[in-house]
Amino acid sequence: MIIKERTQVGIVGAGPAGLLLSHLLALGGIESVVVEKRSQAHCEARQRAGMLESTTVELLREVGLGGRLDREGLEHDGIYLQFDGERHHLNFRELTGGRWITIYAQTEIVRDLIAARQAHGAALEFGATDTEVADLDSSRPLLRYTDAAGRRHQVACDAIAGCDGFHGVTRPSIPRGRLRTVYERSYPYGWLGILAAAPPSTDEVIYCRHENGFALHSMRTPRIGRLYLQVPAGEDIARWPDDRIWDELSRRMAVPGWELTTGPILEKGITSMRSFVAAPMRYQRLFLAGDAAHIVPPTGAKGLNLAVADVAALATALIRLLRDGEPDLADAYSDQCLERVWRATYLACWMTTMLHVVPGQDSFESALQLAQLRNLVTSRAAATMLAENYTGYAPLRYAPSTRLAPTALWPWVA
Ligand code: DHB
Repeated sequence: MIIKERTQVGIVGAGPAGLLLSHLLALGGIESVVVEKRSQAHCEARQRAGMLESTTVELLREVGLGGRLDREGLEHDGIYLQFDGERHHLNFRELTGGRWITIYAQTEIVRDLIAARQAHGAALEFGATDTEVADLDSSRPLLRYTDAAGRRHQVACDAIAGCDGFHGVTRPSIPRGRLRTVYERSYPYGWLGILAAAPPSTDEVIYCRHENGFALHSMRTPRIGRLYLQVPAGEDIARWPDDRIWDELSRRMAVPGWELTTGPILEKGITSMRSFVAAPMRYQRLFLAGDAAHIVPPTGAKGLNLAVADVAALATALIRLLRDGEPDLADAYSDQCLERVWRATYLACWMTTMLHVVPGQDSFESALQLAQLRNLVTSRAAATMLAENYTGYAPLRYAPSTRLAPTALWPWVA
C-alpha cells in the first residue's frame, strides 16, 4: 500500500535550511512537506556552529523568528585575532559601518523553527526512512518515504528542495553527468569541539594561531563555553581526556595576565574539514540548498549563514515560480547563490590556512601566516576586507517581488 499525496514543495531535510524554507514558503502562501530521517529530539539537540552574520539575524527577525534570538543571542562587535602570544581586537561594527555578529546556536534556531512550523500545523515527518526522489525530468517530481509508523508515501510535488546535507540522498539522485562540476579540497586536520559548563573567559570570540595548532574560544551563554582545538585529521577522541583538552586550550590561548576558566565538559566531538561545491545547485525541478550543495571548513562560521542565504533566495524563487508562474528567479537561483558561496569558500579556506599549523610545515609557510595576521591587525584595508566578508554579504531581503539581480546581492557594486 502506498499513500499518494500532493504538495507544492517537497523538502528533504529538517535542518535549518529545510525548516526555514518551509517557513518562508508558508509566508508566501506555498505549502510544503518536510521529510527528515532523524528524530525531532535528535534534530533539536545536535551541536553545530553558532555564529550568525548580521544579515542572517536581520532576515530571521524580518520573518518572525527574532523573539528568542533577540532575548538570548549574544551580540558581538567583532572578534579577537591572536598570534605570536598577542591578542588583537578587530571591531567589525566600526569597520563595516554597523554590521555585527550574534552568537546563537544553530540548534536553538532549529528549535525555534520547529516550534513555529508546528504551531502552524505544518507537515513535518521525522524518523522517515528510505527517502528517495524520482521523476526529476517531469514537471511533477516525486518524493517517496516511509514514515515512522512504517507507511509508504509518494508525494507528487511541483518542486523538490534538497536540504539534506552533504551525505543526503538528493544530490546523488541527479543523473550522472548533469551535475556539471564538483570542486573539492580536504584539509589535513579536524576540530575537536567541546561544550563546557565554564563561563566564557572572553567577551568576544578568540581565533588563535599557535605553533601547536589553531584554537577557538566561543560561547553559547554567559555560563556555557564552546571551544575548539585543531587536531590531526582522523584523530581518535579517546586520546583526548578532559584534562588534556583544557591543558592544550590553555597553552595555545595563553597571553600574559589572562586565564582560561575551565569546567565540566558537557559534550565533545571531532569534525573533519573540507571545502566542497557542487554546481549547478539545480537540476530541473530539484533545487539544492545548504550543505547538500556546498561545505566550508568551520573557520569563519559560514556554513549556517550560507544555508540561510540560499534558502532566502530559493523561497523567493519558488514563490515566484509557483504563485506567479514566472521562472526567472528559479533560473537565476544557482548562479546567484554560487557567487556568494564562492566568496564564503574563499574566506573559510583563507582563514583556515592562515590560522592552522600543519605539523612540520616549513618556516616559509609559518612566516607567511604571521605576516598575513600582522597585516590584518595593522592595515585598516585588510581588516575591513575580513570584516565585510565575515559579517555577511548583502542585506538579504525576503521579498517575493524583489528581483534578485546581482545588484541586489551586491548593492555596493552597482
Ligand atoms: C563558532 C564556530 C565557528 O566555526 C567559528 O568560526 C566561530 C564560532 C561557534 O561554534 O560558536
